[in-house]
Amino acid sequence: MIENLQKFTTTNTEVYVGSAVFDVLSISLQPYANHKIFLLVDENTLQNCASLLISNVELLQGAEIIEIESGEDNKTIDICFQIWKTLAEYEADRNSLLINLGGGVITDMGGFIASTYKRGIDFINIPTTLLSQIDASVGGKTGVDLDGMKNMIGVFNEPQGVFVYPDFLKTLEKRQMLSGYAEALKHALISDAAYWEDLQFGMLSDGEEWSEMICKSIQIKNEIVLKDPKEKNERKLLNFGHTIGHAIETYSFTTDNPLLHGEAIAIGMIAEAYLSNQIIGLKEEELKDISATILSFYKLNKIDTTKVHNLLELMKNDKKNSNNEINFTLLNKIGEGSINHSADFTQIIDAINYYNSVL
Ligand SMILES: NC(=O)c1ccc[n+]([C@@H]2O[C@H](COP(=O)([O-])OP(=O)(O)OC[C@H]3O[C@@H](n4cnc5c(N)ncnc54)[C@H](O)[C@@H]3O)[C@@H](O)[C@H]2O)c1
Ligand SMILES: [Zn+2]
Repeated sequence: MIENLQKFTTTNTEVYVGSAVFDVLSISLQPYANHKIFLLVDENTLQNCASLLISNVELLQGAEIIEIESGEDNKTIDICFQIWKTLAEYEADRNSLLINLGGGVITDMGGFIASTYKRGIDFINIPTTLLSQIDASVGGKTGVDLDGMKNMIGVFNEPQGVFVYPDFLKTLEKRQMLSGYAEALKHALISDAAYWEDLQFGMLSDGEEWSEMICKSIQIKNEIVLKDPKEKNERKLLNFGHTIGHAIETYSFTTDNPLLHGEAIAIGMIAEAYLSNQIIGLKEEELKDISATILSFYKLNKIDTTKVHNLLELMKNDKKNSNNEINFTLLNKIGEGSINHSADFTQIIDAINYYNSVL
């Protein structure tokens, strides 16, 4: 094993983490030496990450760079269409490789584009945000949004490899770092009370702790995904905070204050911790601990309660539901999630009121 490198084996691929990932990437690219390699970036990863990557990985010097505009509102089928056309113009064939260099928008959409172009070409993910390094990098979910509704179109498909270089985070804005941190908090809440305590003290400011946090989160997510790759049961644990969170995120896109994914999930986790207290007996003191910890990291606004019906509509359309019931993952206690619960509208409205009351 190379120094400064950790390896996780997931469903059909490997995830490498550490400052030495470019060495392994160089080896992994050898089979593509005589084929076309495409590098998908946005303006920020082009500016902050691409040169470092290319200067460390010789084979990428001849790669074609495809740049898209950053942002969740570009995670659409229209942008896929443009990229499929670009791949075709550059005569990408079944042996070509697409490397996705960016946050979750680039890795989700790039994965989907590669999985569908000519019935599927190989792709590699190089996640560059905290959120994509600890979460979107594992588990094989690819896809795009439909009319603002999250991840409505997509496929499960694994990349050829995932290469996580923690120092890419040095140029990431604090707000984006915190967005990723919400997923780490979620990983802790559903499965590891000791990790929750570490995160409460804050693992963001010190770059030394990034690798530890990334590896811990990947390990937790990977263990869950390996048991249930297609989200029939166990994988639903990862949806904690996401039923209410996704609705809030989607709704926020129609307002002047669009939220980042992790910010919406932070709100969702407070509201769903309240539901956990009401429905499966999460202790009151743990509910308070969760709310206070989350609020210590995020500057959040109240939810406009006159808009709650919009949120309920969005929750009804959530693809996580079945049998017309809104499906929730809740917490028995800090460090232990519990899947397949339902809550009625009154309980959901109470949870949103609880969130507003603790701000
Ligand atoms: N597939 C999955 O399992 C999974 C899991 C969680 C989230 N997601 C998806 O991930 C998306 C969110 O990902 P995200 O938070 O990474 O957002 P993002 O991809 O929009 O990136 C956030 C911003 O950071 C910029 N950026 C990226 N790397 C940078 C760097 N190193 N330095 C400076 N700026 C940089 C980007 O250009 C963008 O402006 C959502 O669409 C969500 O649905 C997917
Ligand atoms: Zn998420």
